[in-house]
Amino acid sequence: MSAPFLAVDGPFLFILHEIRRGVGAGPLPCATCGTHGASPETVMDMAKKNSGRGQRDLKVKVKSARGRKLSSTRWLERQLNDPYVKRAKTEGYRGRAAFKIFELDDKYGFLKPGARVVDLGCAPGGWCQVAVKRVNALGENPGPTGRVLGVDLQSVDPIAGAEIHKLDFLDEGADDKVKTWLDGRADVVMSDMAAASSGHKQTDHLRIITLCEAAAEFAFDVLEPGGTFVAKVLAGGAEAGLQAILKQRFDKVVNVKPPASRSDSSEKFVVATGFRG
Ligand SMILES: C[S@@+](CC[C@H](N)C(=O)[O-])C[C@H]1O[C@@H](n2cnc3c(N)ncnc32)[C@H](O)[C@@H]1O
Repeated sequence: MSAPFLAVDGPFLFILHEIRRGVGAGPLPCATCGTHGASPETVMDMAKKNSGRGQRDLKVKVKSARGRKLSSTRWLERQLNDPYVKRAKTEGYRGRAAFKIFELDDKYGFLKPGARVVDLGCAPGGWCQVAVKRVNALGENPGPTGRVLGVDLQSVDPIAGAEIHKLDFLDEGADDKVKTWLDGRADVVMSDMAAASSGHKQTDHLRIITLCEAAAEFAFDVLEPGGTFVAKVLAGGAEAGLQAILKQRFDKVVNVKPPASRSDSSEKFVVATGFRG
């Protein structure tokens, strides 16, 4: 858990994200987390079977099985040996993705008590869980009470303190619907949206940039001056354009790869702070 934050401004080594079509019979894993949608045997179920092992002792070997591809066997093995998967289970988060926003917020401090947060692409809900705690959405701590509004294509099991809507954010009029639910301005707009992996890196990259640009346009409309925009991108070239647009509207724009983001994934996060309006 001690891996350093990587600043990924400048040349970025692109390593093709492993395609995991062979895992489970459910929907394809999303293009970045690889776990989300990998039912029926979810990562958490798999981790449960191995509970009780210390983080450093995790050295689970998965035997190859008839009908399971070698790449799937390797993927299962990696999940079972992943300390963030273990930590998500013990700390009650819905997935290891929670630690990405956790670490980004530890570094940039945008999830302040009382903040109003919009979480785009929130399923299964790890980022919302972190945001609810940090902005004091349940009013558990003294001080201002924040708000967390999440949207996703997929249904999300309820999360106390978060308001969640099922919505395709690329649909015509989707941004207006979120604005209506928000009913005011936001302090943070964050997007972890990623479409299911197509198996073609440039296609995945362009899809995620489209999602990011839609999220950024929305952020321009709803953020309070001083607000923060966080979004996941995949390295691939087109993200430079997004960064240029953000630099015109925010005081500071950085690309970072938090320790919880797998080193063999091309994902990184753009964090734009100090919205100028
Ligand atoms: C990596 S997952 C998000 C994980 C989430 N941050 C968490 O901590 O649980 C990416 C999500 O983006 C969602 N997504 C992709 N395209 C979308 C769209 N057009 N509108 C809304 N959500 C979308 C997917 O359904 C998926 O749940």
